Amino acid sequence: MATLQYPYPKAEFGALENYRTAKHTHDVQPKTINLEIKSLLTRLKSKPTFNPNLKFDVSKHIIFKDEYFEKTKIATLSDLHITKTRMKPVSDFAAAYPFPLISQEAADMILWEAFQPEVLDRYGRVPNLSKDITRLDFHVGGHCKDLAPFSNALYTSPEISEIVSKFVGLKVDTLYNTEVGHMNVSLASLDENEIDNLPSAKQDMLAVLEAQNKKKGDEIPSTLGLHYDSNTFALVIMLDMGDDAVGGETGIITGDDKVFRVPDPKIGYATLIQGTVLKHVATKPVSNSNRITGVVGLASAGPELLDNCRYTGVKPSILPRTQHDQFYSEWFEWKFKHLENHLNYQRTLIMEKFEKGEEFDQLAMIDVCKSMEKYLHASWAEMEAVSNPPYPPKEFQTPYSELPDYD
Ligand SMILES: [Fe+2]
Repeated sequence: MATLQYPYPKAEFGALENYRTAKHTHDVQPKTINLEIKSLLTRLKSKPTFNPNLKFDVSKHIIFKDEYFEKTKIATLSDLHITKTRMKPVSDFAAAYPFPLISQEAADMILWEAFQPEVLDRYGRVPNLSKDITRLDFHVGGHCKDLAPFSNALYTSPEISEIVSKFVGLKVDTLYNTEVGHMNVSLASLDENEIDNLPSAKQDMLAVLEAQNKKKGDEIPSTLGLHYDSNTFALVIMLDMGDDAVGGETGIITGDDKVFRVPDPKIGYATLIQGTVLKHVATKPVSNSNRITGVVGLASAGPELLDNCRYTGVKPSILPRTQHDQFYSEWFEWKFKHLENHLNYQRTLIMEKFEKGEEFDQLAMIDVCKSMEKYLHASWAEMEAVSNPPYPPKEFQTPYSELPDYD
């Protein structure tokens, strides 16, 4: 088969030139697999009730209760003093403080599935552009549908979408497979020599944390630098966290340009953010601790409303763990499905209105068509074949107040 020729993304622009390959240049190091990951798998396996073939059971594994809707603290965009955004927010919801979502057994099973050798080989990659990362920081993602049946069943269960929908005040759905179950992994080193160079006294760690908090968002050590998400909402579930871990939270940049750390994550707890309009950073723990989160991307479910997802930060030339053929196939299948549903909805509406004797509104119809054109255009506009701008885009550094108007 002849290889298609495209213009290519440039390394000096922060991109991966080998984006159409499996990108083994960014594999997780064998040392990490043989030491820290092996030890983690041994710990999981040694739990008395461990079962590698565990089936997802919603009544057992999702521990969310309706009362958490009232109990969970919510920050709106106005609370965070964010008045200007890079695109139209889908609701005023900004972030939810941690709430209990999944059981320990479920968290363990998600970890077990993600750290299997085949999964790591195909979908585990170290980040390309991050601040102060080591061999212990990497991503896993895109593995759920084919290689992680438990994780897939949990993440895509209707219960998860329903919980998020209620929090954000809008009907949402989980995204395409590549964006379901992305994991941000930072592991504690088990190498004595490395450990000696890390702060260990609580006091020292708190001092480091305080110094970090005074820095600008883009100077904070993280596995994923200061960014906006490509997906409308991110549900971030804590899967593993060292007992006396210091730091490691999601830091949100507020309207007055301060870093607001979403507090106190515990294993099985989740936080939720409208990541397309909130500039944020996944901070690295200051302590030598594990910090592993599983992220579910969600967006408006339609059919009345088209989603606003992009792929700036997850496209294959930017995110090493994203696999080219899989990503674009899943992305377009998903986008077309949404467009199809929306088109159907609009088609039915047109004739309903006519049959009711309503006057045909030309200007309203032009808006409907324009929004579909915009949607279709956005679905391809960032592909490497036509767009390889420097990464991170300027927008990620621009203060909210200086963002251009979105329409
Ligand atoms: Fe993010």
